[in-house]
Formats: sequence, structure tokens, C-alpha cells
Amino acid sequence: MEQLQQILDQALKQFAAISDEAELEQVKAKYLGREGSLTVLLKGLGKLSAEERPAAGARINQVKQGIEAALQQRRDALQQNKLAQQLAAESLDVTLPGRGLSTGGLHPVTHTLERIEQLFHSLGFATASGPEIERDFYNFTALNIPENHPARAMHDTFYIDPQHVLRTHTSPVQVHYMETHQPPLKIISPGRVYRVDSDATHSPMFHQVEGLWVDEEVSFANLKGVVQDFLQCFFEQDDLQVRFRPSFFPFTEPSAEIDMSWNGGWLEIGGCGMVHPNVLKHVNIDSEKYLGFAFGLGVERLAMLRYGVNDLRLFYESDLRFLKQFN
Ligand code: PHE
Repeated sequence: MEQLQQILDQALKQFAAISDEAELEQVKAKYLGREGSLTVLLKGLGKLSAEERPAAGARINQVKQGIEAALQQRRDALQQNKLAQQLAAESLDVTLPGRGLSTGGLHPVTHTLERIEQLFHSLGFATASGPEIERDFYNFTALNIPENHPARAMHDTFYIDPQHVLRTHTSPVQVHYMETHQPPLKIISPGRVYRVDSDATHSPMFHQVEGLWVDEEVSFANLKGVVQDFLQCFFEQDDLQVRFRPSFFPFTEPSAEIDMSWNGGWLEIGGCGMVHPNVLKHVNIDSEKYLGFAFGLGVERLAMLRYGVNDLRLFYESDLRFLKQFN
């Protein structure tokens, strides 16, 4: 009996000192294994007298249960420990600030183009488009700029080959559209145009928005109304002044330059006029029955004025410090 108590005490002490699960199982064998001390005692029961045997057997079983319970307790404790360590090692601090999600934004010229389209759509204009590589015929001839006309030289044209140019303006879209549609027509055509030119106010590629309205009764007064309405809405300025200064374009007659009031003076933002009968003739529209107006506005110029940008080149240098301001 004394030996049994010793075994139990020793086992409990030993288990408590172990901090490794595998080691615990090894030590277990020392008591409960085939050669274990408790097993050996159980085997020795037969040597006892019939009177002693039941009490000794019961005591051995008690000790065995005690050892098993202590073993299980230690196992549980070790597992708990391991889990706690793992949780501590893998824990996330959800209160730390995030890395942030940076979103892109539209280019200021794209913003401007979208705003222009939206405003003209509200005035009943549809959007049309045409190619940027244009046949000489559409860029010039069909617009009443015949070969050897001085206006061709004025356009600083990029030639692809003798027949093809990078369009120098959006006006050729007028011709494409009138070739495929019958009046009444009411379109704008925003897009890229190209000229051999580069400084603070000129870029070899820039944007224009063309306007064209052809019907039986369209007047210069309508042209003035549409352009003024548009500009006042675009700049959100009811008292914005618009001036139509007599000018010349081969494809309009009469023609005018469009100026708007700015900083106490005037600033040119585009050209316009009544569609020239020769242009209508090229696309088989009866100029006795129909007439119309056209205009072309410089998109970058509008963007510069709206955003207070003083150098056109900023739009095309892809400097994020500049571009991020428009997000
Ligand atoms: N296409 C002309 C230009 O680029 C502008 C314009 C368009 C003038 C339509 C009159 C009518 O300068």
C-alpha cells in the first residue's frame, strides 16, 4: 500500500514537470505500460492471499485511475498551452490602420469631354465620330478647301502619304455624317486632332468638339444661342459674355471666331459659321432647301479655363502630382 502511494505521488510530480506531449506519453508507459510499475503490481496480485487480494486490487485500480486522470489533465493543459501560443503568434491587430485603396481618376481632358457631351446631349445633339487618319478629300477638298488652296498650308498638316493625313480638325466628321444621314441633323463630334505645332499653348495632338445642325430653318441666331447657352452652362456663369468676331473658313459662310469674356478681356475658343453651300453640294444635300450651322471648339482651351491650368503641356506630361488633383 505504501509503495502504491509512492508510485502515485511520483507519477503526479513527474507529469507536472513535463511540458512536451510526446515525452508525457513515454513517461506514461513507465507506469501503465506492459512493463510499467503498476502493471507489474497488478500481475503480482495472484501471489497475495484471498483475503488481501480484494483490498489490494481495489487500491491498485484507484491509483491507476488517479494516474490516468492526472495524465489526461496534463495532456489537456499542454494542448491548451500550445493553442494559446499559436493564437498569440498568429494574432492580427485589427485596430491597425489599413494600407489604403488608391483609386484612379479620369484625365481632366476626359472629364471635360464628358461634360461637353452631356451638355450638348441636353440640347438635343447626338454624338458622331470619324477616323483620325483621314483621307485628304475629307479633311480638305469636301470642306471646300481645294488643292493648292492656301488654307491647306495654314493647317500645319501631318501627312501619312500624299492621300492621307492625321485630321487637322473635326470638321471632316461633318462630311462623313452628311454622306450617311439625311437632314434634319443635329450632332456634335468630339475627338483628337493633330497639327505640327508644340509650345505652351499648342500640342501636336489636341481635342476639338465639332457641332453641326442642318435643317430647313436654322439661323446664325440659333448658332449664337446654342454656343452661348453651352458656354454659360459649361462655366456655370449666367453673365458669361460671348462675342462672334467676323472671320473666314472655307467651309462656312458667313464665318466667325468665337470669343468669350475672360479676366476683363476676350479669349478665342473656337470657330463657327453657316455651312457653305459647296459643302452641302459635296454630300448631295439640297442647299436651296436646307441650311445649317457648324462650330468647332478647342477642348483643352475649355479645360484650361475651367480648371485654371496655364500650360497646355501639363495635360500630356502624365505627372501624377498634376493629374491627382482632378480625381
Ligand atoms: N475646323 C475649324 C478649325 O479647326 C473650326 C470650325 C469648325 C470653323 C466648324 C467653322 C465651323 O479651326
